[in-house]
Parts: sequence; structure tokens; C-alpha cells
Amino acid sequence: MTVAFALLLASAAAAGVAPARAADSRGLPLPTNSTAASSTSRYGKISFQSSSDGNVTRATFSNPPINLVDAFVVSDLFDFLHSLQPAPNKTTAKVVVFDSANPDWFLGHYDLHNIQLPFTQTKADIFNQVIDCTRYLLNTTSTAFIAEINGRSIGLGQELSIQMDMRFAGPNARASSFENSIGLAAAAGGQPFLGPVIGRARAMEYLLGAKAIDGPTGERLGLFNTYYDTAEKLKTQVSELAERIALFPQHSLNDTKVTLNLLNPTIESLDDQLARFIPLMNLPEDQEIIAKFLDVSGNQTDTPFELDLPDSSVQAVRDGVYL
Ligand SMILES: *[C@@H]1O[C@H](CO)[C@@H](O)[C@H](O)[C@H]1NC(C)=O
Ligand SMILES: *[C@@H]1O[C@H](CO)[C@@H](O)[C@H](O)[C@H]1NC(C)=O
Ligand SMILES: *[C@@H]1O[C@H](CO)[C@@H](O)[C@H](O)[C@H]1NC(C)=O
Ligand SMILES: *[C@@H]1O[C@H](CO)[C@@H](O)[C@H](O)[C@H]1NC(C)=O
Ligand SMILES: *[C@@H]1O[C@H](CO)[C@@H](O)[C@H](O)[C@H]1NC(C)=O
Ligand SMILES: *[C@@H]1O[C@H](CO)[C@@H](O)[C@H](O)[C@H]1NC(C)=O
Repeated sequence: MTVAFALLLASAAAAGVAPARAADSRGLPLPTNSTAASSTSRYGKISFQSSSDGNVTRATFSNPPINLVDAFVVSDLFDFLHSLQPAPNKTTAKVVVFDSANPDWFLGHYDLHNIQLPFTQTKADIFNQVIDCTRYLLNTTSTAFIAEINGRSIGLGQELSIQMDMRFAGPNARASSFENSIGLAAAAGGQPFLGPVIGRARAMEYLLGAKAIDGPTGERLGLFNTYYDTAEKLKTQVSELAERIALFPQHSLNDTKVTLNLLNPTIESLDDQLARFIPLMNLPEDQEIIAKFLDVSGNQTDTPFELDLPDSSVQAVRDGVYL
């Protein structure tokens, strides 16, 4: 086991905790410093900007060149979500806005090396940590999660964002669960959540057809709350909403999330789908496709193939590139 992977298993540092707000002699809050608290995750894949009162945190993904969701991104996301768990006398952010430092990518797909056979204990641990991240997004009811998407949200990236509470899109947004095109299924939430979010028939169209959803289409379908035609409007409007939500007591936010979570697929149904993923992953032909995918994607780097997902993958099937 490498040092890096050993470290992945260790418990990790939490994101910055905002200091308590000082008050003047009248009991009014003192002006806070304009520079909000900032920090970075263990592997540097997520940076954090917290408002001075700690109510809102902006969490920015950065894993150049394609924001691949590799073991380090998974570990950093897990640490952050773990740090948001409520405990007595602990203050947690009311709103987390996820965005990206990469204009082309919000979040990319899973590092497919991690589902290549042999499925070692290390790969299984990373996989389980992915599932823990999705479960934290669903069961952390004391914090609202907003995805501010202005780039590609593909594969696992799309599965993570669809399990956040709200999604807003900018001009570069492009979402897709393309897994069917490589003989797999969007098993970490992509399939089970797309039905409730955009409706069964449309989910069929986009999953079975491995189609992409751009910003305006996503708004029309209800995948995105709102589409903004500039990056500036997107950021301004999302920040305004986050600050508005943060004005109100956290117990109300918590109650609303508990209530609306009743619309989510059950944990049993999510576990059931995961169990069905493993046999697909183990198919010899799917392993062959994964190997070819790594090859034609330039080993998951900044290639036209990656940038053109999901259509490049569909074309690879038509052209007989995978098998
Ligand atoms: C503002 O920053 C100064 C200098 O870093 C520090 O001494 C002070 O405690 C800060 N005030 C608040 C309210 O965070
Ligand atoms: C929380 O803070 C209160 C007030 O300071 C204290 O009485 C209580 O023991 C603390 N609880 C825990 C679990 O630390
Ligand atoms: C939330 O999910 C995490 C990650 O799977 C798990 O460790 C935790 O026990 C869950 N919490 C609740 C309240 O279900
Ligand atoms: C942050 O949350 C606290 C506690 O709920 C609240 O009193 C305060 O007004 C909030 N700050 C802002 C700027 O919304
Ligand atoms: C959120 O609501 C649930 C259900 O009422 C409750 O069990 C939990 O303690 C609440 N959490 C917080 C942080 O208020
Ligand atoms: C592909 O990239 C991984 C890191 O993501 C690296 O470990 C591996 O050696 C690379 N393989 C090839 C064939 O370049």
C-alpha cells in the first residue's frame, strides 16, 4: 500500500471553523473582517471560503485537468462532509455551495482505474467512501447543499450533484450519466435520482440514450433550478440565495430537509442498485471497455474525447472502438 493510500484511510482534518462573533458594548455585532476564513482540504482538491459568521461555505473543486473524481477528491469530499456532522456545541455551516475552479468541468467521472479488476481492498475502500459521500449528502439535514454548475458534470460528478439539494447552471453546464454507453449503470445515485427529479420517461431518454443535458434544457426538465446565461449572474444569484437561507434558524432548515427527504429513493433501493452494479463491473466485456476507454481518453486527461463526453463515448460504440 502506498503512503498516499494509507493516508486516505486515516481520519482527516475538518474545514475551517469560523470564530464566534464579537459584540460591542450595546451587544451589537462588531463589523467582521471582510476576508472570510479560507482553508484547503488535505489533498488540495477542495478549497473553502467561509463567511465570517460561518453560515455559508463555498467549496471549490479543483483537480486539473478534468476534475476527475479520483481517490483524492473522494477522500477530500468525505472529510469535508464528515466535518459537517452536527454535534453538541458545534457550529456547522447552514449552506454549502459547491463550485469549481475549472471553467470546463464542474466534476468529472470516476477514476475508472478504481473499477478495473482485480478489485483490491484499496479500490473497495475508495468505492465505499464514494457511497459514504453520497449518503452524507442525503442524510446531513442540518446543511443545505447547492451545486453551482458551470462546466461538465459527468458520470460520478453528475451522480454527486443530483444528490445535492439544489442545482443552478451557467452557460458551460453540461450534465450526463453516460454509463450505459460503457456497459455500466449510474449506480451511485445517477439512475435512482434522475427519475424523481425529471420524471420517469425523460430519465429513460437521457439514461438509455446516454444523452447530455445543457443548461437551458436542464432548467426546462427541472434538473437545474435556474439557468443563468453568464457565469457572473450564476455566482451572484446563488450567493444571494445562500445568504438568504442563512438568515433563518438552522432547526427550520433541518426540519424542511427532513420533510423533503421523504421524496428521495429509499436507502434500501439505493443499496439494491449498488449490489446490481458489481456484477456489471465484473463482466469481461465491461472490463475490456474500461481498458479501451482509458486508452482513447488519453488516460483520462484533457483530450477531445473527455471534453466531448457523452457523445464521444456514443461514437466510440458506433465505431466499434470499445469491443
Ligand atoms: C480581524 O483581523 C484582525 C487581524 O488579523 C484580527 O486581530 C481580528 O481579531 C479580526 N477580527 C475579527 C472580528 O475576526
Ligand atoms: C455545551 O456548552 C454548554 C454551555 O457552555 C455546557 O454546559 C455543556 O456541557 C456543553 N456540552 C458539551 C457536550 O460539551
Ligand atoms: C449518514 O451517512 C454516513 C455515511 O454513510 C454514515 O456514517 C452515518 O451513520 C449516516 N448518518 C445517519 C444519521 O444515518
Ligand atoms: C448566521 O446565523 C446566525 C445564527 O442562526 C444568525 O443569527 C445570523 O444572523 C446569520 N448571519 C447572517 C449574515 O445571515
Ligand atoms: C434534524 O431533525 C431531526 C428530525 O426531527 C432530528 O432528529 C435532528 O436532531 C435534527 N438535527 C438538527 C441538527 O437539528
Ligand atoms: C494513467 O494515469 C495514472 C494516474 O491517473 C497513472 O498511475 C498511470 O501510470 C497512467 N497510465 C499510463 C499508461 O500512462
